[in-house]
Amino acid sequence: MIERLGALMKQGLAQLSQVADDVTLQDWRVKVLGRSAPLGKILEELRDLPKDQRPAAGRRANEVKTTLEAAYEAKAESLKAAALAQSLEQEQLDVTLPGRPMPRGRVHPAHQTLRRILRIWAEMGFQVYRSRDVETDEYNFEFMNMPPHHPARDMWDTFYTTTPGVLLRTHTSPGQIHVMRERASEPIRVVLPGMCYRYEQITARSEIQFHQVEGLAVGRHITFADLKGTLTAFTRRMFGSAVQTRFRASYFPFTEPSAEMDVECFVCGGEGCAVCKRTGWLEILGAGMVHPVVLSYGGYDPEVFSGFAFGMGSERIAMLRHRIEDIRYFWANDLRFLEQF
Ligand code: FA5
Repeated sequence: MIERLGALMKQGLAQLSQVADDVTLQDWRVKVLGRSAPLGKILEELRDLPKDQRPAAGRRANEVKTTLEAAYEAKAESLKAAALAQSLEQEQLDVTLPGRPMPRGRVHPAHQTLRRILRIWAEMGFQVYRSRDVETDEYNFEFMNMPPHHPARDMWDTFYTTTPGVLLRTHTSPGQIHVMRERASEPIRVVLPGMCYRYEQITARSEIQFHQVEGLAVGRHITFADLKGTLTAFTRRMFGSAVQTRFRASYFPFTEPSAEMDVECFVCGGEGCAVCKRTGWLEILGAGMVHPVVLSYGGYDPEVFSGFAFGMGSERIAMLRHRIEDIRYFWANDLRFLEQF
């Protein structure tokens, strides 16, 4: 048995010296050191040897096993070192090269203006209230004093969903009812920002989706003078104290009286362009005193409470602020536009 062990060791070491890659090395390990390898079998045979021969044969068997294992480890190390040396030789890394710049994200221009608008309203004591984009016909129209078939519904070309009575809000005004019902006869001073959707012709000044910021103030002694003063103060903070504004009488079923506010067109300096429809003015908001019917739907007694409301177009304000000539730039996702802000 001792000779067979010596022969096995010699043969194993000779085969190992021929191994040149990791796959063959693993093969060798299974064949020489594996359980069913000849060495394993010899170790099992030790049990059957006469007692006096067992210690010497056992010692020799252990020597052979440890020698082969050590040779395996040494070979594995030397193959690893050779692979590393080869990769260092072939793949060169130039640590002096400049790094790749990480592109920096930024806030979308529509949201930059939206944030500025909300900051000004917050400074003026208005809380932000968020309301849903998907609305019911009731909130979008009926509670806004437009029962089914009311002709004023035509002012808002609507995207309806496949669920009857459910639509994409055409304006942020339904949020007025949500706030009023939640506040239950407490005084209110909130702004409601959000996306609105209209199935209408896309032009330089009109998109099918755009942000509005609704405003609502309800209390016991609120007048139209408060509305005018508040909106004028807002436009001065937004565009500077020299800004020219004007109110025009208008009609909304949910306010009485109603008005629209125009700001002198900064794009053309008041001379007339495509953005202002050659009038020199750009309409930025609709407003008015909350209609008694709407107050009642909100749970406020119109005999006791009065209030004003407004809805401003945030992209129109961004256009004035940055002299942007076409509203379509906002959602076209053209980086040449977006990266200017
Ligand atoms: C309304 O939507 C009313 N809910 C506003 C209101 C609220 C009146 C509370 C009274 C009381 P109007 O449809 O005019 O009104 O829209 C308000 C503003 O949204 C406009 O002045 C304009 O700035 C902006 N806007 C309207 N349609 C578009 C559009 N298609 N694209 C971009 N901005 C728009």
